[in-house]
Amino acid sequence: MRTTHIRSAAFATATVLLLGGLASAPAATADSGGKTQTLHDLARDQGRYFGSAVDNPELADTPYADLLGSEFGQTTPGNGMKWYATEPQRGVFDFTAGDEIVRYAQSKGLKVRGHTLLWHSQLPDWLNNGTWSADELRSILRNHITKVVKHYRGKVFAWDVANEIMNEDGTYRENIFYKTLGPGYIADALRWARAADPKVKLYLNDYNVEGTGAKSDAYYALIKQLKADRVPIDGFGMQAHLALQYGFPYQMRQNIQRFADLRVDVAITELDIRMFLPADEAKLAQQADWYGQVTDACLAVKRCVGITLWGYSDRHSWIPGFFEGEGAALPWDENLRRKPAYDAIRKALTD
Ligand code: XIL
Repeated sequence: MRTTHIRSAAFATATVLLLGGLASAPAATADSGGKTQTLHDLARDQGRYFGSAVDNPELADTPYADLLGSEFGQTTPGNGMKWYATEPQRGVFDFTAGDEIVRYAQSKGLKVRGHTLLWHSQLPDWLNNGTWSADELRSILRNHITKVVKHYRGKVFAWDVANEIMNEDGTYRENIFYKTLGPGYIADALRWARAADPKVKLYLNDYNVEGTGAKSDAYYALIKQLKADRVPIDGFGMQAHLALQYGFPYQMRQNIQRFADLRVDVAITELDIRMFLPADEAKLAQQADWYGQVTDACLAVKRCVGITLWGYSDRHSWIPGFFEGEGAALPWDENLRRKPAYDAIRKALTD
């Protein structure tokens, strides 16, 4: 209760400043040199990273790219490493978009998470529209994973090898790989990724798995089985696309802990917290409280290695385009001003 009370007081102040059209004052935390510590500095002091995704066109938005480069320690390409981008024609690879983000990240000292080798969405048309025998599709998948992982060897610290492979009820999603190859494609994909890069951390990644429930139970069982079968699996990514109207994920800390107890890392990979527009003071305060709770839940578990926002500001967010009437999901607003959520994250990282 005490923490909640203190949090609300901090939000009230920040919100007044925000509504008054002023950026919230830089928080007081300073290192010995007197320089204000960034969110990533604070996370790094706790052995974690704090990052934000970025999509290629956003790099041309200089104030946006500058703040990304100074505040964060990690980035994930929003689209640039997806299959449609990396293998637009069968056997023809294009690493332009991903390379651009890697170059930017290296110049700013950010580490990069690779996203994603295999997904049902944003596949190239040639793959979606083809009819493939199991042998053909297996060789297509193997070649894709091998080429992409080798290209980014030493440049990304982790790969979302398989993205969104489960349904809400914990059954396997019937993507083209499942339909043609059966559930064994997941272990194969992990093994091919390991063969292409012995060092990179290999993850499964999904949404609606932050709390306990049928879907996260299915991942728990799958990862346990993969471990028992000696299939290479290093981590579980919880996207954390949260929405105020659905409530905070049930038992998030305990859920992160049970995956850690399977001896895999956990990462919060795509955090945003949307609301129905217009935003108001109460919704922004609740959002801030949730950002603080997600940060607390990660910090409470040693193997929760870091948090990535899916873009850090409402200026570049996928939410309004995908969820009608919703938005305001990030800790910075359209004008790159800090919202109460920023202060809540900062407080959670500092406490
Ligand atoms: C989103 C991108 O942000 C959009 O630009 C794109 O149009 C669609 O995909 N889960 C994921 C991400 O794993 O790859 C998605 O990214 C958001 C949901």
